[in-house]
Parts: sequence; C-alpha cells; structure tokens
Amino acid sequence: MLSKDLLGLRGLNRRDITRILDKAGDMKKRVDNPELRGKELDKLSAVTIFYENSTRTRMSFTAAAEYLGMKINDLGVSSSSVQKGERLTDTAKTIDAMGVSVIIMRHSQTGAAHLMAKNVRASVINAGDGCNEHPTQALLDLYTIREHKGCIEGLKVAVIGDVAHSRVARSNAFGLSAFGAETVFYGPPAFLSKSAESLGDNIRVANDMNDAVRGADVVMGLRIQFERQKAAGIPDLREYAYLYGINQGVLDLAKPDALVMHPAPVNRGIEMTSDVIDHERSVIKEQVKNGVAVRMAILSLFAE
Ligand code: CP
Repeated sequence: MLSKDLLGLRGLNRRDITRILDKAGDMKKRVDNPELRGKELDKLSAVTIFYENSTRTRMSFTAAAEYLGMKINDLGVSSSSVQKGERLTDTAKTIDAMGVSVIIMRHSQTGAAHLMAKNVRASVINAGDGCNEHPTQALLDLYTIREHKGCIEGLKVAVIGDVAHSRVARSNAFGLSAFGAETVFYGPPAFLSKSAESLGDNIRVANDMNDAVRGADVVMGLRIQFERQKAAGIPDLREYAYLYGINQGVLDLAKPDALVMHPAPVNRGIEMTSDVIDHERSVIKEQVKNGVAVRMAILSLFAE
C-alpha cells in the first residue's frame, strides 16, 4: 500500500517498489510511441519546486506529466517569493491552496520534502533532499537493472565515488537491500564511512577497488557532490581519477556482461573515462529514458 507521498525508498518494501517498476513497464511504451500517450490525468496538475539545479529530474517529470495529459508548472524558485524570504512551509501552503495534486520538490536540506508533505494536502514527491534520498533516481536505476538482468535479487552492485554525500547511493542501497541484492561501496576515505553498512542488509564498504568491483553485475559511478563538500574534503582531482575513477581496467574486474551506470551529470575523465561512459555496456542514456517512464508511473500512482 503506497502512502500519500514518495519521500524515500527507506521503508518501501519489495512489493511497493515492484508495483512502481511494473507500472513503469507499461508506461515505457508511451515514451517510445506518442500515439499511445493518454489524457488520464488531464484534470490534475503538478508543480515542480527546485531549490537546487536539475536537468534530468525536472525535465523528465515535465515530460512524464505531459505524456499523461497532466498540467505541470515550475515555481521558478529564483524568481519567486522565496527570494523575499518566504518560508518553505508558507510556500508549500500557498501552492497547496491552488489545488495542485502533486508537488515535486528538490532542496539542499535533508528532510525538506518531509516537512513539505506534513503541511500540504497534495502528494509530495522528493526529487532529492540534501544528502538524504533521491528515490525517483533509485527507482529508475532499479528499473534499468531489472530490464537488463531480468531480476534484481542476488546481484552485486558496486557503487563507486562520493558515497558520503550521495542521496542516490543511499536510495539505491535501500532499494537494492529490499530485493536482497548486494551493495558494495568504495571511494576515497573522505567520501566513505563504515556507517554506510548500517543502511540495510547486504551492504558493505570494500577495502579496495578490486574488492568492490570484482564479479560485479553492475558498476555504478557517483558524481562528486562539489556543492556539499566541507573544507578539505576534496582530494586532488587527478589523483581522484587515478585511484577512484572507473576506467576500462576497473570495468575488466566486473563480470563480462556488467552494466555501467551513473546518475549523471558525469564529471568526464574524473569519475569515469569517456570510453566507459560511451561503452557498449553503458546504460547511462537508457537511465534517462527510463526516468521518464518511472516518473509517469509515479505520477499515475500518487496523483489524485
Ligand atoms: N541525476 C539527477 O538527479 O540529475 P539532475 O540533477 O540533472 O536532475
């Protein structure tokens, strides 16, 4: 039973996640074929409120809404009354009073979407809150993995990079754990904490790149969250690329049919070499396409 809001994958069980992924499977045909797009949400409207920058998440929610006939507007935080000092909860109540069904929100503070959800009647979809969660990204990642591998259970997923600041890493760990997959984190000590192992079952921190990637079914890079670094947190970028970047040699440690994934945007040549980004086993562009299908499923399941 899904609740009013989608705030994170922590607390969602395998059945809930499978319901969303199955619905996304139905929706994907409509991404590919405009003739199949419907109007079932044409009486409803959504608003995107992004206090942080975005290309993929915001644009794919916009496309997803349009493919379902749903009206969608963007608050445009930089030109809104937020700039006059309006508080988050007041902005929330103002938008809610206009009768929107869904509020899609990104914010730099952990828990911002939870606060918004408590103050509105509309369904709130968390499009990323600080270092906490990015559930729709993890759902599209899970969808992409399942589409290629046939299942998620029992897979080894190596997640490499800035784990400590990554809401994508956390949401993926919750989702993979719900399916009984193994999540193995690896990155520079400043970007890694043993506490990551307490996020769920079958999650561990690797000792080195070989330990992380050997035999992996999926190799997932993470963006360095430059905007979230504390002082002295960033290693030298050339050294970072040498020690923690995903290149062909790293990929050779994984299974021969391992997928290459990255939530993007990618810092080319730092987190991943260009040949790996554009590798025949890279599904980074498919992740973007699947993001539209998954967000159509989410709008369809959460809007009312
Ligand atoms: N992956 C992701 O969230 O990308 P955007 O920041 O472009 O939305």
